[in-house]
Amino acid sequence: MPIAATISGKTFTPHLEVQGNCSLSGELKVSGAKNSALVLMAASLLTEDELILENVPNLTDIEGMREILSTLGVKIKHEKNRIQIQAIGLHHVALPYELVHVLRASFFCIGPLLARLGQAKIPLPGGCEIGARPVTEHIKGLKALGAFINFEHGVVTASVPGTRKRLRGAHVVLDCPSVGATETILMAAVLAEGRSSIENAAQEPEIQDLANLLNRMGAKVSGAGGPKITIEGVTKLRGCHYTVMPDRIEAGTFLIAAAITRSFLHISPIIPEHLSAVLQKLRDCGCNILINKDTIEINPGEIKGVDITTQPYPGFPTDLQAPFMALMATAKGTSVITEKIYENRMQHVAELQRMGASIRLQGNTAVVEGVARLSAAPVHGGDLRSAAAMILASLSANGISKVEGLNHLDRGYSSIEKKLNQAGANILRY
Ligand code: EPZ
Repeated sequence: MPIAATISGKTFTPHLEVQGNCSLSGELKVSGAKNSALVLMAASLLTEDELILENVPNLTDIEGMREILSTLGVKIKHEKNRIQIQAIGLHHVALPYELVHVLRASFFCIGPLLARLGQAKIPLPGGCEIGARPVTEHIKGLKALGAFINFEHGVVTASVPGTRKRLRGAHVVLDCPSVGATETILMAAVLAEGRSSIENAAQEPEIQDLANLLNRMGAKVSGAGGPKITIEGVTKLRGCHYTVMPDRIEAGTFLIAAAITRSFLHISPIIPEHLSAVLQKLRDCGCNILINKDTIEINPGEIKGVDITTQPYPGFPTDLQAPFMALMATAKGTSVITEKIYENRMQHVAELQRMGASIRLQGNTAVVEGVARLSAAPVHGGDLRSAAAMILASLSANGISKVEGLNHLDRGYSSIEKKLNQAGANILRY
């Protein structure tokens, strides 16, 4: 997706035109989880058998991971929402910087490559719009499992000593419950010799999805989804057929779309317990929520300000902080929104202020005074979730807004304007 192009001397930037004062109705369908599908694709490196993943979302990040795996020599077939992957005849263990820099999830390949081939050369992914995003915990875990790690010219070169090139089980205590570090260490440990454990592990549902896949491949993982994960190493993993879980962040984004437009909507499929903290805050701010198996019915009343602080799962997810702030900008009363996970995830504040939101930012805490109506404006999403927040704010604002940042948006939302338009929105993509 080009970020901008020059046509007849003017710079053209792809954008959405969003009609405001919108009300939605009917149902919004949720795709497979981006942050699960990406790591499940990396896990395909752990076996030479074929892995078939269903319910894979159509996203630029998925295309990026497909390109990364192809660079390593992996055979991949991608039809609609199904991916067939076979890491047979892996000939490469090095990834190019230009691919890793744009898709930090490619760093997930380091664990499986080490476990399978005993070596890996992965450029440091570096920071992004929302923060420095270090990988120190990932490296700490791999070293504990016996890997030699060298940093040179921005590249992490990892290798397993000894003739058998097999990692050995270890007990790792994470300094912070990092999702990526938990996934990296988990994928390295499943083929290590002996028992491993990860304490202070991330408990996000994506970790459970990965552990479920690995166990279906023949691994012996227990405790995933809790603070301590135990792994009994095995010598070989087999292929399998697996369905990616629904995307809890897309689902949460749609729930907030219903709330900010004061619309009665059905959202599905959802695993409700994946969104407990978000559902609680939506109830607290005035939404009636009905759970019926994998469908959530949301019926907003008068929306009032509530406070949120982002936390590791099962706390309020950082990925819904920006969308929820858009909602609070239209609520009755004051809300205090504190971002605890990333150091720079408040870029949407300035954009919401341009739409008339009344927000005071002190460091990573925003004090939001709700206003009766936002006003449409040209706005920009600086990261994936800020871009989504801009769309939500535009749906409720007075007038037609122009939302830029589609290069970010399309990484994590599959045809979001098509889904919203079929529920009554009026959004055009240029
Ligand atoms: C995953 O990123 C998600 N991405 C992120 O989603 C999500 O925001 C994040 O988890 C938290 O839930 C994918 O799964 C592809 P972390 P990850 O390691 O694994 C610090 C989106 O919008 N940290 O749990 O990179 C780090 O700086 C994206 O879909 C260390 O300090 O997240 C951050 O402040 C954005 N040292 C915090 O932990 C480390 O070694 C959370 O990072 C590793 C992380």
